[in-house]
Amino acid sequence: MKVLGISAGTKDGSNDSLVKEALMGAKEEGAEIEFIRLLDLDIKHCTGCIACVLSLMTGKGGKCALHDDFEWLLDKMLDADGIILSSPIFEKGAAGITRNVCDRFGPRTDRAHIIISSKIAEETGGTQPDLRLLKEKAISFMGIGGSDWSTRVECDHAMIAMSPMWTVVENIVFQWSKTIVVEDEKVAKAHALGRNLAKAAADPASAAYIGEPGFCPHCHSHEFYLSPGSTRAICCLCGMEGDIAVEGGKAVFRFEEEELGKAHDDLSGKFIHADQIKENEGRLIEVKKSDEYRRRVQRYKDFISGTVPERKA
Ligand SMILES: Cc1cc2nc3c(=O)[nH]c(=O)nc-3n(C[C@H](O)[C@H](O)[C@H](O)COP(=O)(O)O)c2cc1C
Repeated sequence: MKVLGISAGTKDGSNDSLVKEALMGAKEEGAEIEFIRLLDLDIKHCTGCIACVLSLMTGKGGKCALHDDFEWLLDKMLDADGIILSSPIFEKGAAGITRNVCDRFGPRTDRAHIIISSKIAEETGGTQPDLRLLKEKAISFMGIGGSDWSTRVECDHAMIAMSPMWTVVENIVFQWSKTIVVEDEKVAKAHALGRNLAKAAADPASAAYIGEPGFCPHCHSHEFYLSPGSTRAICCLCGMEGDIAVEGGKAVFRFEEEELGKAHDDLSGKFIHADQIKENEGRLIEVKKSDEYRRRVQRYKDFISGTVPERKA
């Protein structure tokens, strides 16, 4: 059983160290371990060209148009049975490099897209997507910050697991943790996270969340989109829509049972989303053929172009 530890922090800093501590725990559970630092890699940000999705949906396997170390990283992640990922908290959320990985996962690793594109490849005799994306996997996250500005990090992390539908086992935030390497309680927590993750990775199909309950009873997120003047609320992670109520003096989030089929981390919810995206992209393709579309885009192109810095030849 392979457990991959990934750090998004500075070399030999808090995240590197705590991922290594977690890997020590995983090793005690019999895991074969590997460690990767994101900042050692060349990971470009997603440009939104949608080449990956077009490639998926035309039976060409779903390759990204960018040439960097992301394919190598994805291969390592898909090869592992379990993953431990730790990011420094930047501006209350996960560091940008982690967000880059999340964007690059995006629609391309979405389980519904992989199932649809696999059928397309079968029917057209094209290239299959990487079918390791349909395998169950366990993943745990740590977010390490220097203060209590940390409210977005769990959601940023769990989004990575959402596309391929990997099971989040734990999603821990360490606040006020610049000195975490010498804080025994937190180090022990990371060690235990590694052990727990390895246990889950030994049988990823039965893996389940074992962390503290979140405010969303479905996905354990604490992050919500609220509408002023209403009790309506949307879970920022799984997209469940419902109402915030106060029961027995405690705030709770309630939603209709049948809404669960629309959850963004549920396969049926993913198929709904895939259909909506397909319809929307189709509409854009049609609109782009019109003179009106071309005229409007030309108007903006003629108006002004982006200023760039002067580069030395
Ligand atoms: C650009 C930047 C933004 C940061 N923003 C936050 C923040 O919003 N909340 C927080 O708790 N810590 C913040 N920090 C502190 C880092 O999270 C902290 O230094 C990090 O855990 C160090 O990890 P490392 O030693 O693995 O590199 C920020 C640091 C930097 C450099």
